[in-house]
Amino acid sequence: MSPRTILVTGGAGFVGSSIALFLKQAMHEVDVVALDNLKRRGSELALTRLASGGVRFVHGDARILSDIEGSIDAELVIDCAAEPSVLAGLNGSPQYVIDTNLGGTLNTLEYCRHRGAGLIFVSTSRVYPFTRLKQLPLRIDENRYSVDTSTTVPGIRDGGVLEEFPLEGARSIYGASKLSSEIMIREYVEAYQLNAVINRCGVLTGPWQMGKTDQGIVVYWLLSHHLQRPLRYIGFGGNGYQVRDILHVQDLASLVHKQIEQLETTRYGIFNVGGGLDSSVSLRELTGRCRELTGTSFEIGHDPEDRQGDIPYFVTNCDRVKAAFDWAPECGLDTLLADTNEWVVEYRDALEKII
Ligand SMILES: NC(=O)c1ccc[n+]([C@@H]2O[C@H](COP(=O)([O-])OP(=O)(O)OC[C@H]3O[C@@H](n4cnc5c(N)ncnc54)[C@H](O)[C@@H]3O)[C@@H](O)[C@H]2O)c1
Repeated sequence: MSPRTILVTGGAGFVGSSIALFLKQAMHEVDVVALDNLKRRGSELALTRLASGGVRFVHGDARILSDIEGSIDAELVIDCAAEPSVLAGLNGSPQYVIDTNLGGTLNTLEYCRHRGAGLIFVSTSRVYPFTRLKQLPLRIDENRYSVDTSTTVPGIRDGGVLEEFPLEGARSIYGASKLSSEIMIREYVEAYQLNAVINRCGVLTGPWQMGKTDQGIVVYWLLSHHLQRPLRYIGFGGNGYQVRDILHVQDLASLVHKQIEQLETTRYGIFNVGGGLDSSVSLRELTGRCRELTGTSFEIGHDPEDRQGDIPYFVTNCDRVKAAFDWAPECGLDTLLADTNEWVVEYRDALEKII
């Protein structure tokens, strides 16, 4: 049964606003509310888009249960409120990350428990430990790392990370806050018969992402090319061989739509969600793509030292989510980069001030 009311926490953020607007368009009759405390710079730009797309905005903080409770009486919550940087908390207190990412989800779970509401949790591939990902057997193929398939690695299939990838090891405060939330979601599903889906997303991109060095790399790289602002390949020798797969946020939104329709039959599940090997790119390759798209070319700096939490390779194996929801990404790398670049060009002046 389709919900009549949906609450999207972090609904003015990149992912939350994209999902909220997609759902409102796909399910006209549904009341969609976006709750956000506008902590992320640039999220305020979403307010006009949300209003013109028919999504009601509520200013509220996921750390405060009464803010969530007072927003709307929803039958489904999509949890996108987060401090999403893998570096968050490293140079100071981890309190905000933990309070929002874990505490906010605990409040959301309480909200769901009170109403019997379903939950779709936007988690992250960062739940997989960087300490293990750094030990993957890699080789250099021209401009990128590839997994050496001559040895079998637990949790890796066809060059992609499965949901069974071992979880023992350090994963960053951010990754740990999301994994802790996942564990609590599992308990609420069992104890209170909630329906919940957990999407462990890899790199997402698309229009309206306020990219920074530590989060939203595609927008950051594209904008820096347009502005001819210095860039560096950081870590792993400073060569830019590190690889990530990328998913267009619209493909995630269409997946969430399918998951809403199947939530009652799914009841509970953890899914890796990403663009897969075909939509993977190394930083060096991304530079080449940015040069083509922007018509600019300048020397990229080299910083050989790894930053804590950085990984040389992450590509998602999406077999499970594809089979469960008859879903596959529609936007390949070309479309995804062209689409994002078009938006960067249009909003260049505003972005220059924010990013
Ligand atoms: N963007 C990606 O590449 C990516 C990849 C994997 C997972 N994710 C997950 O997607 C979700 C959304 O990330 P995003 O990329 O849209 O980031 P974002 O920063 O654009 O969005 C997060 C939103 O949450 C809001 N927020 C922060 N603290 C809050 C609080 N205490 N109460 C209410 N709102 C608060 C921010 O203002 C922001 O609008 C996060 O859970 C993140 O872990 C994102």
